[in-house]
Amino acid sequence: MNTSCIIRGMGHCVPETVLTNADFERMVETNDEWIVSRTGIRERHVALNGETCVDLCHEASVKALAHAGIAADELTHVLVATFSADAVIPSAACMLSHRLGISGRMAMDLSAACSGFLYALETARALLLLHPEAKILVASCDIVSSRVDYTNRTTCVLFGDGAGAVVLTADSPELRGGRVLDVLVASDGAMGDLLTIKGGGSGTPYKLGETIRSDFFVEMNGREVYKHAVRAMSGVCQELMTRHGYTCADVDVFIPHQANLRIVEAVGKRLNMPEEKVFTNLQKYGNTSAASVPLALSEAVAENVIKPGSLVLMGTFGGGFTWGSALVRF
Ligand code: ACO
Repeated sequence: MNTSCIIRGMGHCVPETVLTNADFERMVETNDEWIVSRTGIRERHVALNGETCVDLCHEASVKALAHAGIAADELTHVLVATFSADAVIPSAACMLSHRLGISGRMAMDLSAACSGFLYALETARALLLLHPEAKILVASCDIVSSRVDYTNRTTCVLFGDGAGAVVLTADSPELRGGRVLDVLVASDGAMGDLLTIKGGGSGTPYKLGETIRSDFFVEMNGREVYKHAVRAMSGVCQELMTRHGYTCADVDVFIPHQANLRIVEAVGKRLNMPEEKVFTNLQKYGNTSAASVPLALSEAVAENVIKPGSLVLMGTFGGGFTWGSALVRF
């Protein structure tokens, strides 16, 4: 077991504009009762004032660095988990580094949809084994609204935008923060077509002047995604707890991917996780993809739900399919 990675600081942010269920009632044929009973979501923040992925990453990262007491120019690596960077080139990580006033470091984007944060955390752990002196910024952000069709009621009500960031270093007994005990991530490309954004990729390119089609936006088979999300997220969380001899009784706070309340409740039930240990904020943010777990983690720490000594279990599931789990002791 590698215990050499510690979360020194974290931060989060969301765009200003809020879309409520009442707003959606005016946009598509839906109603608050349907949305709340199927998803638990009441509102979401969306980047309608021109905020970009790098804008949100920057704000969350500045907060995370302040929380860690680490200056931007001490950073050695910058990782950004996102599917919705400002541009294909340059990467969000390069743009974020520049915005933070640093250069000359490794800066790289990672794409694992809603599991992006745990994929980046696992990558950072590996980098810390190679470079024990490293100070690594992981920002996890999606502007999902840039790829949501706001005329499609089956998808548009589900998503919001946001960012979460953490600063990681090698562990040392005098440091305060969240000790990353373990991370487990996985994927299965065979089911990739159940949840896609294909349009604009090299497999489905657009020609100059061509009108965008529905494939430019999130498309999914909701029922199938639901089934796999519940199965994979509960399975990977159970596997990680078992690997360390933990049960739900040992876990103080469970932070699942904030996809929707029914998925979260079904995962909790499968794990036998007491309801009061499950942290949710999807009611006010919707599904923010890669930002979902670090946004919830950062908020749970800020709200003192996570306290010194808390054992935190995280679980993710996203397009790809990708899924993962992490155990962190605060
Ligand atoms: N308002 C009103 N009616 C709607 C809406 C809406 N916003 N969306 C769909 N409906 C209608 C459908 O058109 C359908 O009508 P019909 O029976 O006349 O054809 C009816 O509601 C039932 O549709 P279903 O898709 O079968 O509804 P379901 O009960 O499965 O709930 C939901 C849909 C909430 C999307 C569900 O499948 C789900 O939670 N899936 C998980 C998907 C998810 O969360 N994805 C997020 C991205 S992936 C991830 O992050 C894990």
